[in-house]
Amino acid sequence: MSQGAEPVDHPVDPTTTEAWHRLRTLADGFTPDLRAWFAEDGSRVERLSFAAADLHVDLSKALLDDDVLAALLALGEAVGVAARRDAMLAGERINVTEDRAVLHTALRVPRDAPAERRPRVDGHDVVDEVHEVLDRVYAFATSVRDGSWTGVTGERIRTVVNIGIGGSDLGPVMAYEALAPYRQEGLECRFLSNIDPTDVALTLQGLDPATTLFIVSSKTFGTLETLTNARMCRSWLLEGLAGSGDVDRDEAVARHFVAVSTALDKVADFGIDPDNAFGFWDWVGGRYSLDSAIGTSLVVAIGPERFAELLAGFHTMDEHFRTAPAAENVPLLMGLLNVWYSDFLGAQTHAVLPYSQLLHRFPAYLQQLTMESNGKGVRWDGSPVVTDTGEVFWGEPGTNGQHAFYQLIHQGTRLVPADFLAFAEPSYPRTDTHDSRSVDVHELFLANFLAQTRALAFGKTADEVRAEGTEESVVPARVFTGNRPTTSIMAPALTPSVLGQLVALYEHVTFTQGVVWGIDSFDQWGVELGKKLALEVGPALDGDADALAAQDASTQALIAYYREHRSR
Ligand code: F6P
Repeated sequence: MSQGAEPVDHPVDPTTTEAWHRLRTLADGFTPDLRAWFAEDGSRVERLSFAAADLHVDLSKALLDDDVLAALLALGEAVGVAARRDAMLAGERINVTEDRAVLHTALRVPRDAPAERRPRVDGHDVVDEVHEVLDRVYAFATSVRDGSWTGVTGERIRTVVNIGIGGSDLGPVMAYEALAPYRQEGLECRFLSNIDPTDVALTLQGLDPATTLFIVSSKTFGTLETLTNARMCRSWLLEGLAGSGDVDRDEAVARHFVAVSTALDKVADFGIDPDNAFGFWDWVGGRYSLDSAIGTSLVVAIGPERFAELLAGFHTMDEHFRTAPAAENVPLLMGLLNVWYSDFLGAQTHAVLPYSQLLHRFPAYLQQLTMESNGKGVRWDGSPVVTDTGEVFWGEPGTNGQHAFYQLIHQGTRLVPADFLAFAEPSYPRTDTHDSRSVDVHELFLANFLAQTRALAFGKTADEVRAEGTEESVVPARVFTGNRPTTSIMAPALTPSVLGQLVALYEHVTFTQGVVWGIDSFDQWGVELGKKLALEVGPALDGDADALAAQDASTQALIAYYREHRSR
């Protein structure tokens, strides 16, 4: 990507650019034919396959020809993606509605990076601060892992419960699941997020307070769910320890509760010793915070060395995004491609389909990353958006999804672009031996990934269906039109580094789309109204007549139903 000069203060209206008009014209007469494109162009796969760090990304089965690609790249140039990227990396306050810098990339800058690669916020070298906190997190995690950090009764910690929600939960739990092979045995992490009391009940089930440590993770330390859950866990701890002799309550909280937050004053008010708190900064968005101290539970699980590998993986992708020429810049290309699908070809959703059971929480993680970032109706200068924004991201691991919703992707009437993720090396190799044959089950698994992307791209014609001897009346039902777009992302293995690369890839894809649409991908005002109304409606559930009268008729009726059916 060319090095942008000045950041763009007001978003460019993308629809006024020549590139947009060109794309509109191309879309109008667009009749993708992947069969023909592959047949006529022997270099298509090579030209549309890219390397980004350890990731091999194949866009050849995308609905993309040379004209569309050129116009998309021109669009990226016209709206100033490079300039905005450089502004972000330099620590400029590109999160304008919150007046904040956006520097999650600084969380993975190496300790010894040269001066020109060390972003500064208000004159501070943030890389030094990042590594100070990391060192403290690493020391803490090591002490839990080696048993030198004990609970108040002197027993070693066996379970760590991360209490957090949204970005303070989804990243850690996704990575904890993804990196299961790297976890320390005998040390379990659980994740408590929902204010549904079922969650706290089930999360604490079977745990021994003497060997349980809580990490209260909250950027603001003001989130209702997290603070409520933290208080309930504190009561559970103190009640549970009451039978363990003369336990000092403050000492118990100090040994069993640590916190991660940008609001260290509120951490102290909660009763957590500031020495047991790990900070981060307002320039790290919640959904971009897995690689900050928010990842403390993960550091405990996989250890500092592996976490450092994860950070290094993030950084390699950041560097790719910063330095790769536009025509080879994978996050840029994927972001622009998503704009093509959603703004020109009418796609409403985007599936992410990992052929890796370990990535079963990856789509959920991406939902917050993409939809909280790009689900916006105004641009960063307050003007209304001029295009559709933010697709619905969703997905499930293959092959489970194949037996659930792939039918719609293959033969439904909607366009559903899909990213397929797969790894050459299995995390848990297994052989199925039967009928005196041995089958590598990972190969069976990957065969499905390859078969699905192939079927989606090339389909099956009526003649091919007939050639199988199919009765004419059911031929139409068995035809696959093909031309259903996929992106295949492969890596050698699901290591911590590769996971970091994948997350950073999608962060930058999200960023690219946000710049094209001219939106602030780093605020989340849309979640505020519901939070405020929940506080107002709460007393009405409890019978407060004034609060009830302030509700609309539907809400009042629902409350009446609740009060009638609640047994207490
Ligand atoms: O849902 C809104 C949100 O602010 C998310 O952006 C954030 O990740 C989550 O709530 C949790 O916030 P906190 O970490 O401040 O508790």
